[in-house]
Amino acid sequence: MARKKLTVVGAGHVGAHTALWLALKELGDVVLLDIIEGVPQGKALDLAEAAPIEEFDSRIKGTNDYRDTENSDVVIITAGIPRKPGMSRSDLINTNVGILKSVVEGIVKYSPNAHLLIVTNPLDVMVYAAWKFSNLPPNKIMGLSGALDGGRMRAFIAMELGVSVEDVHAMVIGGHADEMVPLKRYATVSGIPVTQLLSPEKVDAIMNRTKKAGGEIVGLLKTGSAYYAPSAAVAEMAEAIIKDKKRVIPCAAYCDGQYGVRGMFIGVPAVLGANGVEKIIEIELEDNERKEFNSSVAAVKGLIDELKIGK
Ligand code: APR
Repeated sequence: MARKKLTVVGAGHVGAHTALWLALKELGDVVLLDIIEGVPQGKALDLAEAAPIEEFDSRIKGTNDYRDTENSDVVIITAGIPRKPGMSRSDLINTNVGILKSVVEGIVKYSPNAHLLIVTNPLDVMVYAAWKFSNLPPNKIMGLSGALDGGRMRAFIAMELGVSVEDVHAMVIGGHADEMVPLKRYATVSGIPVTQLLSPEKVDAIMNRTKKAGGEIVGLLKTGSAYYAPSAAVAEMAEAIIKDKKRVIPCAAYCDGQYGVRGMFIGVPAVLGANGVEKIIEIELEDNERKEFNSSVAAVKGLIDELKIGK
């Protein structure tokens, strides 16, 4: 069986760590692409030199040339710039959409059948833009949200209860922003609802911490944003696709009427397999959860409407 090929665009903090997880999981050969000369080559060589020590046989190539990404099965896009002092939110969006356009065009030219996994923020808007620029069927485009946000919520629940992270599950839907919707009724420890294990105040505190978890890391790091958990989470999504695992992972997926959303991407529970987003699972939401979800959708829609890339 031919080896699979995975490309990571953006060899910064998230991209380089994603390449590491993909290689450790031996999902295939990995191409690391960045606009800066030398950086992807240097990080790829460094990773290749870790291979004999950690015993992984993925080949890793660093490049600035899209031709090296030819025939990728999965492409993870982390390229972008962080918000700089004095930069408005819409300046950031327009800059990152411009970067995304050049990246997506470069990728689909050489890999017309790839699955695109978007990590660049603001996430849900970038996924929509990637879809528009790529002309790919929407099941092949998805964005990192619930896998990361749910992972963070799981970590907080496990810390609070002193139990194994393996036994904790949590579901976060909606946009990958402060308006995300952690669903306490679907958070469990080995099937036991957390609402039976923790006081309502503790559960609320965990949900609020989850919503602000990205900002908590930025506040500590001061000069950057999170990268270990984001890279691990997107590698988990890539694994589900490469191995056709049919994992149920909430992510920014294209909705065509599900949850009352049509024609855009938002965080919902999805079945991920060889055909990308194979199915969206519709779960029951209580009135307040639906209200929060709808306002999250409206926030993303507002940002999309600001873009000049059409509907
Ligand atoms: N083509 C390829 N790479 C690019 C381009 C481009 N047009 N423009 C920028 N890059 C690269 C940068 O050179 C840099 O190496 O993208 C990389 C971004 O890396 P970092 O600045 O370290 O950012 P990182 O922490 O990895 O975050 C990347 O992921 O979680 C999100 O909000 C985060 O949008 C951000 C993205």
